[in-house]
Amino acid sequence: MKTNDYLYSALIDKKLVPVIKIADADLSESLADALITGGLSVAEVTFRTNCAAEVISRMKSSRPGMFVGAGTVLTVAQVDEAADAGADFIVSPGFDPAVVTRAQERGLPAVPGCVTPSEITAALSLGVTTVKFFPAEAFGGAKTIKALSAPFSDISFIPTGGIDTHNIREYTVLPCVLAVGGSFMATEKLITSRAWDEIAARTRAAVAAANGHMNV
Ligand code: 3PG
Repeated sequence: MKTNDYLYSALIDKKLVPVIKIADADLSESLADALITGGLSVAEVTFRTNCAAEVISRMKSSRPGMFVGAGTVLTVAQVDEAADAGADFIVSPGFDPAVVTRAQERGLPAVPGCVTPSEITAALSLGVTTVKFFPAEAFGGAKTIKALSAPFSDISFIPTGGIDTHNIREYTVLPCVLAVGGSFMATEKLITSRAWDEIAARTRAAVAAANGHMNV
């Protein structure tokens, strides 16, 4: 059983979740190593490619210290696929009670996408404590999250969508932001071209920016 507290404690330190789209499972280990070299032993592997479950499984088995979530989980079947692969948490772009419930049945924290008070209320009623705020910049960014956090003081947010090293600090200064997600550290193009040094460098810069250690 992986609890909401487990999710919280895994992400609170570095405050970052690289959102990954990867089409070749054979690159799983090298990608994991690049992220680890950059200072992050966490990834959200999205179900936007057919090999997502295999990538999660390979990252978890070859780099046991890694905290690996499944992203873009849209169906109950994908929850099962992710759970069978050893995923640590489930992330969805929107809120589907069936997906959240299945994740909980499989003993995994669910992070559904919620951008309105009504969506957050519905998620809360299922025991969700962390929501994805997506697409963050398009929905008003840090200002909107700050406003939402007033009535929902027990909810933490993982904003993603349009965030990179330049604006990440706007989000991570908010106490209600558990972590920020983004594809900018390990883009599909960087992964395909095996640009491991560049991925490590971007990850390192993002960790520094997220924690306010660098002017960018
Ligand atoms: C996600 O699913 O979280 C987003 O696609 C990430 O958004 P970004 O590509 O703008 O970082």
